Amino acid sequence: MTEPLIQIRDLRTYLYTRRGVVKAVDGISFDIHEGEIVGLVGESGSGKTMTSLSILQLVPQPAGRIVGGSIMFEGEDLLTLPESRLQEIRGERISMILQDPLTALNPVYSIGNQVAEPFQFHPKEDGRGATIRNRVVEVLQRVGIPAAETRVKDFPHQFSGGMRQRVCAAIAIAPRPRLLIADEPTTALDVTIQAQFLRLLKQLQQEFNLAVLYITHDLGVVARLCNRVVVMYAGKIVETGDVTRIYKQPAHPYTQGLMQSVPRLGMKRERLFQIQGQPPDFLDLPQGCPFWPRCPQAQDVCKVEEPPVAAVGTAGTVRCWFPDLTGATQPVSSAV
Ligand SMILES: Nc1ncnc2c1ncn2[C@@H]1O[C@H](COP(=O)(O)OP(=O)(O)O)[C@@H](O)[C@H]1O
Ligand SMILES: [Mg+2]
Repeated sequence: MTEPLIQIRDLRTYLYTRRGVVKAVDGISFDIHEGEIVGLVGESGSGKTMTSLSILQLVPQPAGRIVGGSIMFEGEDLLTLPESRLQEIRGERISMILQDPLTALNPVYSIGNQVAEPFQFHPKEDGRGATIRNRVVEVLQRVGIPAAETRVKDFPHQFSGGMRQRVCAAIAIAPRPRLLIADEPTTALDVTIQAQFLRLLKQLQQEFNLAVLYITHDLGVVARLCNRVVVMYAGKIVETGDVTRIYKQPAHPYTQGLMQSVPRLGMKRERLFQIQGQPPDFLDLPQGCPFWPRCPQAQDVCKVEEPPVAAVGTAGTVRCWFPDLTGATQPVSSAV
């Protein structure tokens, strides 16, 4: 297998709050290869956004600090680079669609101006005005904005939610990044628009061999979109694996719980399974495995000692004392 595009090792991002230290990202490691869509999943508050902000080193200040680890990207450790080099990488090599794309656009600038920004910002993309305009129209067409030629002059409020989402995608892909980080990009969209947006991401992946880190709590979306899944709980990775194996044979009780809460066709929403108990309080984590108070399979050892990491499936991992490892021995054949 080729060298990963990005290699995250033992990343630790802490938030120093008045109530105490929140270990929002607590020693996580995973890779993303060229052209791969990796889903980062977990309930709200598990550390997904802090992970993505750490990659770009945009953790909230003054509370946030990356206190350890390395992030190797195209031969450089992002955590040791000067701000000037990071600025080049952000946008040009790695770009991000934020959690709330509907407010990410500036209401006082035309769509064309906002999509043009990366072209003007990065000198190698520079050209005469007409050239930049052509490229803006081209990228808007690429993300499926109808009548892009005339719509460049319009302002964000003249676009529907789905179209604004596409504009955000256009801004993110305009500089032809190698890695796109999308943090819950479809939460505010209705299901039809969401499906269109997912198709767009798939096309971009295939066309530009774009790698995507797709953050979501929606496992239905992950099944449709992702090649591989990373599951977070309380700032740690509890399971990784290819999407087929994770859906058929989740090894961690938490992943199993998440799977059971995925709505299936024809199922009534109110009958949806919920993982018992509350998401953990980072400032008052239990001893041992952070999931044990909610785990239907917890035993005495889980309450005192941190669980070990075991291999499961093809290049998968699970952090649990009593994982379901059937996925490791039975080859999974059919797709989800
Ligand atoms: N600016 C902040 N200051 C202090 N704590 C924060 C801040 N932002 C997030 N947190 C805490 O960090 C933890 C992880 O948050 P986050 O990465 O946003 O989770 P997710 O994206 O999975 O919902 C949560 O417990 C959250 O309360
Ligand atoms: Mg988040």
